[in-house]
Formats: sequence, C-alpha cells, structure tokens
Amino acid sequence: MNATPRRRLVVLISGGGSNLQAFIDASADPSYPCEVVAVISNRTGVFGLERAARAGIHHEVIEHTAFASREAFDVALADRIDGHKPDLVILAGFMRILTPDFVARYAGRLLNIHPSLLPKYPGLHTHQRAIDAGDTEAGATVHLVTAELDGGPVILQARVPVLPGDTAEILAARVLVQEHRIYPEAARLIALGGTEPPGT
Ligand code: GAR
Repeated sequence: MNATPRRRLVVLISGGGSNLQAFIDASADPSYPCEVVAVISNRTGVFGLERAARAGIHHEVIEHTAFASREAFDVALADRIDGHKPDLVILAGFMRILTPDFVARYAGRLLNIHPSLLPKYPGLHTHQRAIDAGDTEAGATVHLVTAELDGGPVILQARVPVLPGDTAEILAARVLVQEHRIYPEAARLIALGGTEPPGT
C-alpha cells in the first residue's frame, strides 16, 4: 500500500480528450502518483466524456452557454471542481479563457498544455503559424497557468521537427504524441515535489 495517497486530478476538457486518455493510462499504473477523480467538459457530446465513462471516472458537463457571463461560468465551474477536492486541476484541450479570479483560486496547481514551444505562438492556430514562419521545429509546452494567456512558468517542453510538406494536421499529430508523454510526466514531477525539467 502506498504511504502517500495519490494526488487527485480534476481534468477539464472541451473535445476529444486524447490528453485526458494519457492521464487515464498513466493512472492505470499504481506507482503513478496521481489519479483522475473527475472530468468536466464545457461541451456536451464530446469524445473525452466517453473516454471518462469507459474508464469509470466521474464526468459531468457545465455548458458555458448557460451562463450570462464568463465570471458566472467560472464561479460555477470552480464550485464543481472543488467538490472533487483536487490537488491539481488539469486543462486538457479546455478551450476557454479563464478569469483572473479562477486562475488565482488555483494558483500553483492549475496546469495547461499548449501545442507550441512557448513563448512562441500563444493562442490559436499554433501549427499553421509555425509552418508559415518556416520554423524547423515545433512542439508542446506544459505550464502553470497564470493570468497571462499561455504565459505561466514552464514545467516541461517537447520538441519535434517540422518536415517538408507538413500540413498543420500532420504536424499536430506529431506534436500530440509528445503531449501525451510530457503531460502526465509534468503532473508526476509536481506531485513528487520536483518540477526540475529533465532534458527533453
Ligand atoms: C491539444 O493539442 C492541446 O495541446 C490543445 O488542444 C488539443 C486537445 O487535444 N490545447 C490548446 O490549444 C489550448 N490552448 P485533446 O482533446 O485530444 O487532448
């Protein structure tokens, strides 16, 4: 039996949830120091909810469209999250900009993965922007979330080459493989109290 209980992860999604799946798969190993206790989506019918259901993980939907303001949605979201007593809140393709109050509430325990080598290309369309700029490498970044969009301290990065003939879709798929590797690893580092990034 583990002396230290596993860290409780609440994972927020908006879509397919392949990064969620990476956490579910990592959690299947009892020596992984975190477990997914709940999944919350701001969209109904997304495949990530199906992934949670298949894994027997509590999942729920809070549609942002049901709220009059961004602030009201974030308050409701935080209430639901807190009900699961998370150690870490994991943004896994959660395509909402969060309010400063929400970010402050989870300071130091709110993680995001972004599909670029931050500080390059915060925001959307990262792969197309890397291709259009003629970059020879692209990648993904796991970072702590702060009030600055895609701007918090970096925990881990992974690099991939940009190859001749790449489309945004091809490059995204190459980057996604690396996302699935570094995101659970970043949570593991934080759970174990050492966020020193090893060479990736
Ligand atoms: C991932 O590529 C993630 O990096 C990106 O959305 C995708 C979600 O895929 N996140 C962002 O762009 C956040 N700004 P998934 O639903 O299969 O995990």
